[in-house]
Amino acid sequence: MKILITGGAGFVGSHLADKLIGEGHEITVIDDLSTGRYANVEHLEGNPNFRLIIDTVLNDKLMEELIRETDRVFHMASAVGVRLIMEQPVKTIETIFHGTDVVLKFCSRYRKRVLVPSTSEVYGKGVSVPFKEEDDLLTGSTDKHRWAYACAKTLDEFLAIAHWKETRLPVIVVRLFNTVGPRQTGQYGMVVPNFVKSALNNQPITVHGDGNQQRCFGHVFDVVEGLTKAIETPECFGQVINFGNDEEISIKGLAEKAIEMTGSKSEIKYLSYDEVYGEGFEDMQRRVPSLEKAKRLVGYQPTRTLDDIINDVANQFREELKTDSANA
Ligand SMILES: NC(=O)c1ccc[n+]([C@@H]2O[C@H](COP(=O)([O-])OP(=O)(O)OC[C@H]3O[C@@H](n4cnc5c(N)ncnc54)[C@H](O)[C@@H]3O)[C@@H](O)[C@H]2O)c1
Repeated sequence: MKILITGGAGFVGSHLADKLIGEGHEITVIDDLSTGRYANVEHLEGNPNFRLIIDTVLNDKLMEELIRETDRVFHMASAVGVRLIMEQPVKTIETIFHGTDVVLKFCSRYRKRVLVPSTSEVYGKGVSVPFKEEDDLLTGSTDKHRWAYACAKTLDEFLAIAHWKETRLPVIVVRLFNTVGPRQTGQYGMVVPNFVKSALNNQPITVHGDGNQQRCFGHVFDVVEGLTKAIETPECFGQVINFGNDEEISIKGLAEKAIEMTGSKSEIKYLSYDEVYGEGFEDMQRRVPSLEKAKRLVGYQPTRTLDDIINDVANQFREELKTDSANA
């Protein structure tokens, strides 16, 4: 099949590209390299089944051409993460909402299967864990800008489901919970790469808040497997489905694990949310996905543990260090 991956030079998108190329599909990636990296797909260049286009999904004319000629679309392009949203408030909302609008418009016009990622952030301040897809969504007021990410993604969800309701566009919405693994950068505040990198360098690990907040981390290989199954499963059309891992660990526990597994001498330092994000930042104590629906629809069952994740991320950083010092 011909498969278009928007944001395919990003973390999740590039792993999707690897998997789908491995299965013999023809892959086109469109990415503006805003948070993605050429290095994530460099190894695919030269493969006759791979094409990289460096451009934006906001380019209507190009997107129409690309979608018309493809069989499937994974729309991974997005402004990602709360920190980026806080730093670039206008651009990020526009990218999330307008980008998805463009993709869905042309998928609808040419009747193409499309997968649209949303985020566990949409559950907001919900407290009844595990979070189920049909739960109420409880975000904060619009003067607390961190909620812009959740709300923009929620609007994407509404638009996707509206296309399904009105014209039966084969669209699937996936709510990704913290997805981690090699190639994710710590640049935008992602906790696992940041902690592992600091641990490897024996630098202090900075925990936000008191570190008792709990999170779950899914290995990108498990998640990518789930996404590729979902797009091939007609029962998933018009559905919203959680993907991730449901094993919890506190952020302090994660820091301790990163130190232990890398044999690091790092200390743990604590910074209040106000110090990091400014006054009034709200965070959640727990965020656990219910994976029942993913299991029922596509047999999703994460098989990689947090130890696997930390090992894989640490190995990637060690490799990068080796390459850097060889090039120095
Ligand atoms: N990784 C996670 O834990 C997580 C959690 C929840 C949701 N998600 C969602 O999964 C998707 C992929 O996220 P990721 O973690 O791989 O992040 P990422 O930042 O690595 O990937 C996003 C990619 O989109 C590209 N991009 C951004 N704006 C673009 C534009 N206008 N045109 C073309 N490309 C553009 C970026 O350059 C990047 O390569 C996103 O929709 C994100 O919201 C990820």
